[in-house]
Amino acid sequence: MELSQAKIINLPKILDARGNLSVIEEKKQIPFEIERTYWIYDVPGGEVRGGHAYRKNEEFIVALSGSFDVILDDGSDRKVFSLNRSYYGLYVPNGIWRQMVNFSTNSVAMILASTKFDLSDYIYNYSLFKDQVI
Ligand code: TYD
Repeated sequence: MELSQAKIINLPKILDARGNLSVIEEKKQIPFEIERTYWIYDVPGGEVRGGHAYRKNEEFIVALSGSFDVILDDGSDRKVFSLNRSYYGLYVPNGIWRQMVNFSTNSVAMILASTKFDLSDYIYNYSLFKDQVI
């Protein structure tokens, strides 16, 4: 998939003096049906998450708290997206190499995924990824 398919999506923001609220509905704010949600937290300073691509799985990543950077690479282009507010997220199509870096203290990454967990969907080898046309 081409990197140009990845994009920041702004979410509805319901401002309220009692505290703000944002929302995601499948096939509405994000282009896929949600099969799975997971989150990454308690990341020690300097650690890197990701470092793989998915054959089929699409994801939407939100920094629910704190900040981190997502590095996307389609085999020819590379782009860094900084996520630091909970009212937007990054849509990552399948077939894109991704890494998550620069986690701030107490950051929480929420990831909505289009498929159930399936290890055979992962590509962990970057040169294999580059050789494959997805
Ligand atoms: P992995 O996807 O490699 O983490 P990241 O890319 O964020 O660094 O997953 C780490 C471990 O967690 C791996 O052993 C598989 C397991 N895991 C599940 O069991 N279910 C899931 O939905 C996910 C995302 C991971």
